[in-house]
Amino acid sequence: MIIAIDGPAAAGKGTLARRLAAELDFDYLDTGLIYRAVGMKLVRAGLDPADSAQAGETARALAPADLEAPDLREDAAAQAASKVAAIPEVRAALLDFQRRFARQPPGGRGAVLDGRDIGTVVCPEAGVKLFVTASLEKRALRRLKELQDKGLEAIHSTVLADMKERDERDRNRSVAPLVPAEDAVVLDTSDLDAEQAFAAALDLVRSGR
Ligand code: DC
Repeated sequence: MIIAIDGPAAAGKGTLARRLAAELDFDYLDTGLIYRAVGMKLVRAGLDPADSAQAGETARALAPADLEAPDLREDAAAQAASKVAAIPEVRAALLDFQRRFARQPPGGRGAVLDGRDIGTVVCPEAGVKLFVTASLEKRALRRLKELQDKGLEAIHSTVLADMKERDERDRNRSVAPLVPAEDAVVLDTSDLDAEQAFAAALDLVRSGR
């Protein structure tokens, strides 16, 4: 059993995916973290995350310990991830790992994967596909609050502009662009809190099984 959850940044898909996995006792894979790890390895080495040859090489050499780096949640990592994610060689290098995880999850019961192309490219065979979205304004406000809660200084207009730029890059790239799978159920969380979004998603999963 595979549950694919896609959607733009800060739509609430990570929280939802984690909660669904815990509820169903499935394994969870945050695929954005893998792209962040590739992007930050390049940034830390002083290289350009948009350089295909170097990004491809870095993706092929990625090791599990790279996913533990403490800086992967920062906004710089999100921007670098979005850049490496537009490079076909990078996506190809990361595909096998994601598919293996989905088809043979460590716990053996099922897997929840969240990202941008899980329902369309990584696991088109997924039994349940959710496309979790929310308005740009709501997503920017949520990200702003998240940063402020962490004690970081953040400016609304900058957060909004960064998110818009990342959305555009993710939606318009030539490989695996951010788009709902034809058979995905769209869940708009603009006016839902985390609890309501989780209840709606769990209903969809249970009715889809
Ligand atoms: O979900 P996230 O914010 O951690 O993702 C960071 C970036 O990685 C996102 O802007 C696009 C890219 N990404 C992707 O292209 N495909 C995925 N399956 C997951 C993330």
